[in-house]
Amino acid sequence: MDSRTFRQACGRFATGVTVITAHTEDGKLHGMTANAFSSLSLDPPLILVAVDKTATTHAVLHKAERFVVNILTTAQREVAQFFAQKEKTDWSRIELAQTPSGQSCLAGNLATLDCQLYPPPLEGGDHTIFVGRVEAVELGEGEPLLFYSGQFLEPGVDAPTATTPKKERWV
Ligand SMILES: Cc1cc2nc3c(=O)[nH]c(=O)nc-3n(C[C@H](O)[C@H](O)[C@H](O)COP(=O)(O)O)c2cc1C
Repeated sequence: MDSRTFRQACGRFATGVTVITAHTEDGKLHGMTANAFSSLSLDPPLILVAVDKTATTHAVLHKAERFVVNILTTAQREVAQFFAQKEKTDWSRIELAQTPSGQSCLAGNLATLDCQLYPPPLEGGDHTIFVGRVEAVELGEGEPLLFYSGQFLEPGVDAPTATTPKKERWV
């Protein structure tokens, strides 16, 4: 199995799309699009996100005490594309809001999870798993932005299908 095929197989797990935001040590807001997000525990309320060790967000989360999971709607596709870029220079189209704890977050989310980092970070190969204890949530409105097979999809608009030639089924 080569890494491309592994990625293709993982990409057949349809997910929602989040942006993980956190403040840097000097108070600037940083964010990264992430779909390696999962709920983890109900009691205590925990979630996790897997972050590439080379991502700037990785260094930011290592020094942060809090972070926010912004769960995106179909109206936020451009936001997802913006935060998937390495260079995020022009923030003029990004609308921000605040959580009750004073964290900046994105405006217009389907749901917003205000988290305290729940150490220690967990080893995950070329990623690190950051666990967050969810302290407050806000529920929004809209349809979930989906990610499937390398593409953003909108429910009711795009049909997520995949075909594989028979000879390529086990690699
Ligand atoms: C739909 C989508 C999902 C992504 N999910 C993740 C993820 O879960 N973890 C991760 O480390 N990178 C993920 N990425 C890649 C990061 O968003 C991308 O590398 C980003 O530029 C990192 O920004 P940073 O270096 O400023 O932290 C994803 C990208 C897209 C488009």
